[in-house]
Amino acid sequence: MNSLKRADKKISAVIVTGGSSGIGESFIASISKLDDNPAICNLSRSEPAKKWLDQGVRHIPCDLSLGQEIERVVPEILTFIDENPGGDVLLINNSGFGGYGEFHDVSLERDLSMIDLNVRACVHLAGRLMPKLIERGGGIINVASTACFQPTPLMATYGATKSFLHSWSLALSDELKDKGVRVLCVCPGPTATNFFRAAGFKESPIKVGTTADKVVEESLRKYFKDSWIVTTGFWNKAGVAISSKLPKVLVTKLSGGTLRKIRQP
Ligand SMILES: NC(=O)c1ccc[n+]([C@@H]2O[C@H](COP(=O)([O-])OP(=O)(O)OC[C@H]3O[C@@H](n4cnc5c(N)ncnc54)[C@H](OP(=O)(O)O)[C@@H]3O)[C@@H](O)[C@H]2O)c1
Repeated sequence: MNSLKRADKKISAVIVTGGSSGIGESFIASISKLDDNPAICNLSRSEPAKKWLDQGVRHIPCDLSLGQEIERVVPEILTFIDENPGGDVLLINNSGFGGYGEFHDVSLERDLSMIDLNVRACVHLAGRLMPKLIERGGGIINVASTACFQPTPLMATYGATKSFLHSWSLALSDELKDKGVRVLCVCPGPTATNFFRAAGFKESPIKVGTTADKVVEESLRKYFKDSWIVTTGFWNKAGVAISSKLPKVLVTKLSGGTLRKIRQP
């Protein structure tokens, strides 16, 4: 992780959501290798792997799709930040899930819970931690998706939650640029994690291009360079560059055509 070395202030407290698997667990792994040796606090329903707990990662169980659960754990998170002074605070909003199917067919409750987790929880945590972030300095990493760049028929609500994160992250980057708080929007493409299983597939229905570790390494590199957004991986960058030149309606139809070819088992 020395390749991630940077010139600015050290990080002393990291709060990551969804460190119990996938990209969140890779964030824990990469951050624990930083020379700064920051304290890490994880928020998710289940615990991260035992090896992280043995290495001192704090786990606060929390269903982040419930606003009252977030309110319940905020004091504990603020105490964790105060117990680890002397450096930046980093919040990584990573927890999230997707779903597949036409809006009129899928569970409305599941879609509403997806909005609560993928959108509301990120805003809620950032809002509650913002005074500490501004006081101590630091940043927020929001894990969006390449789905944020175009509407995603058959994953309509999921794509829209990620578009929200994209727009919100960039606006916050601008608002906070002179306040010592950086905000990075991470846009991974298909990545080998539990994501597709959680979305209801037996196995990934599309070619998975990369690993969670690669996504995280590129994300942290960009975070330390003060970037506002990163689309991880060469082919994802190329795809986004091409589709950004096309009319939105055409991109929506192309995206719908691709996603319709996917069939749930
Ligand atoms: N994998 C991909 O292809 C891909 C591509 C683009 C973007 N992403 C984004 O990457 C992020 C991480 O996903 P992943 O790929 O690592 O999938 P994952 O392996 O399924 O991990 C999802 C994480 O979210 C947590 N989570 C789910 N529901 C939660 C809840 N109600 N409260 C708190 N935490 C909750 C899970 O922890 P618990 O179940 O223990 O609560 C888990 O740690 C998501 O935001 C996803 O949208 C993934």
